[in-house]
Amino acid sequence: MIVPIHRIGEHVGEEVTVRGWMYNKRGSGKIHFLQLRDGTGMIQGIAVKGEVSDEVFEKGEKLTMESALTVTGTVTKHPKHDDVFELQVKDIEILHLNNDEYPISKKEHGPDFLLNNRHLWLRSNKQWAIQKVRNTIINATYEYLNNNDFTKIDSPILTPNACEGTTELFEVDYFDEGKAYLSQSGQLYLEAAIYSVGKCFDFGPVFRAEKSKTRRHLTEFWMMDAEAAFVDHEENMKIQEGLVTFIVEKVLEKNQKELKILERDIEPLKKVQPPFIRKTHEEVIKELREMGSDIGDNDDLGADDETMLTEKYDKPIFVEKYPAEVKAFYMKRDPEDETKALCCDLLAPEGYGEVIGGSQREDDYDTLLGRIKEHNLPVDAFQWYLDLRKFGSVPHSGFGYGLERLTGWICGTKHIRETIPFPRMISRLNP
Ligand code: 4AD
Ligand code: MG
Repeated sequence: MIVPIHRIGEHVGEEVTVRGWMYNKRGSGKIHFLQLRDGTGMIQGIAVKGEVSDEVFEKGEKLTMESALTVTGTVTKHPKHDDVFELQVKDIEILHLNNDEYPISKKEHGPDFLLNNRHLWLRSNKQWAIQKVRNTIINATYEYLNNNDFTKIDSPILTPNACEGTTELFEVDYFDEGKAYLSQSGQLYLEAAIYSVGKCFDFGPVFRAEKSKTRRHLTEFWMMDAEAAFVDHEENMKIQEGLVTFIVEKVLEKNQKELKILERDIEPLKKVQPPFIRKTHEEVIKELREMGSDIGDNDDLGADDETMLTEKYDKPIFVEKYPAEVKAFYMKRDPEDETKALCCDLLAPEGYGEVIGGSQREDDYDTLLGRIKEHNLPVDAFQWYLDLRKFGSVPHSGFGYGLERLTGWICGTKHIRETIPFPRMISRLNP
């Protein structure tokens, strides 16, 4: 019977077959310790000379790293560790023997080498663990939003106008229509959809031609945008708090093994419980200056500022009410201070920085038209968006998270390029 490795504990004492690849091998002329992986987990197979046939022992000898195989044997409990199992090998079938030496050895490699070999690097234990956590985050997001009456609405990738900054757009020739742009966020389309379904979200790749070379920037990444009618700035933050708490709980529930492989200290993750820390942009500027930053009153937070600030905390931090001038055209202004936007960024603690951007949206036709003009955006291209303020306009808010930023924080990986299967950066398009 073929058994997935993560369920092998249910078969102690039984003979089972594991199907996968050989991760590593050690041993002597008398015994082979085969580290086997099948995508669900890892197990050690033990083949002892004299206890297996000579033919099987020789196969063990021949096996090279990352060769494909099936191994049949009896499941036993590890003599010292309760939740670790081993396979006492009876038979080995080699499905594909690698003749060339596997390029990624167990020694240290530089990041460029690993990224050039991303198609193979993905098989490594840590990279496997990161993708498993990423998968939990994706599924937890769907679960939380479905449970809270959000409908999944797919937004387009080819778009006629910018959503965020016009300087960060990827252009595509689009037949007789001239230029199309790859979506930076599905937000504007979700704003249309809330008038159909009330609350909605999208989840897909977005694109930013950002010249930033930081460890937090990719040119292609996955965003989840959520948008809801009759939700104000305050409630918008509550939804984010609920979602992020749920995601972290799910990862702690499902990915203990992976977090261990990643050597992630889980104590800070356990503290991700509402209420999150909440500060205004003004308060944060003061705090940063006290720490030695030369940030100006109306500056957006740079990557270094976010690192410095969030290193102080082990709980997520909402920074709200940024100066409207540094934020997007669609944000509603704070009625108590028209120079401020009713927005918030959620910063992940431990030096990670922004993982979510969100705001209440301007819902008045004339005010929004004015903003579009102030930002020198083409009114024609935004006419459909303005229409939403003409027919049944209501207060509404939303936010978007960057999946790789969230995964990077939860996994404790320094650079987010490891959190996406095939990263795209300014100077990387391969493999
Ligand atoms: O803060 P941003 O630009 O917000 C928006 O796009 C809004 N339209 C979202 C909304 O309200 N529906 O981007 C949202 C998140 C950021 O907080 C960050 O996590 C991630 O997307 N992000 C990036 N991740 C990787 N590489 C980049 N270049 C990123 N730019 C933004
Ligand atoms: Mg942002």
